[in-house]
Amino acid sequence: MQARPDDSAESLTGLLADQRSFYQARAPEYDQWWQRRGRYDDGPEDAAEWNRQTQRVAQAVDTFGPVGDVLELAAGTGWWTQHLARTAGTLTVVDSSRETLRINRERVARPDVTYLVADIFGWRPDRRYDTVFFSFWLSHVPRPLFE
Ligand SMILES: C[S@@+](CC[C@H](N)C(=O)[O-])C[C@H]1O[C@@H](n2cnc3c(N)ncnc32)[C@H](O)[C@@H]1O
Repeated sequence: MQARPDDSAESLTGLLADQRSFYQARAPEYDQWWQRRGRYDDGPEDAAEWNRQTQRVAQAVDTFGPVGDVLELAAGTGWWTQHLARTAGTLTVVDSSRETLRINRERVARPDVTYLVADIFGWRPDRRYDTVFFSFWLSHVPRPLFE
C-alpha cells in the first residue's frame, strides 16, 4: 500500500504528541466525561445507556478475571484497572500521562500495582505478560503503527 501524505514520520510524531498532550491536559475532566457530568451531561437517557453498556463490559471483565501477570496499556484514570486488580497476580499499568496515572492510583488504591509513565510507541516491555488489556485505545493507534 502506498504511503499517504499524512503518514509521514513527521506527521505521525506530531499526531502522537498531540494525543499525549491532549490527555495530559484533560486528565482532571476525564472522569466528568466518563460519568456524564457537567458539560458531558446529555440527559438521563444517555447516562442510563452509557451505564448499561459500561456495566456490561465490567461484568465481562470480572467474569474473564485475568490471573497471572497482567499488563494494562493506556490505562487512563483506572475505571478498568480497578477490575483487573481484583484478580491479577501482578498488574502493570502504562500510560503517557502522569496526571492521569495519579488519579488512577487514587481510585485503585492498591500499593502492589506498578505504574509506568511511558509512551506506548517507544516503550519496550522487559518481560512477557499473561494478559494484555486495553480499552478506548485502538482508535488512537495510527494505521501505519498498528502492527
Ligand atoms: C481514551 S483514554 C482511555 C483510558 C482508559 N483505557 C479508559 O478506558 O478509560 C486514552 C488514554 O491513552 C493515553 N495515551 C495517549 N497516547 C499515549 C501514548 N502514546 N502512550 C501511552 N498512553 C497514551 C492517554 O493518556 C489516555 O489515558
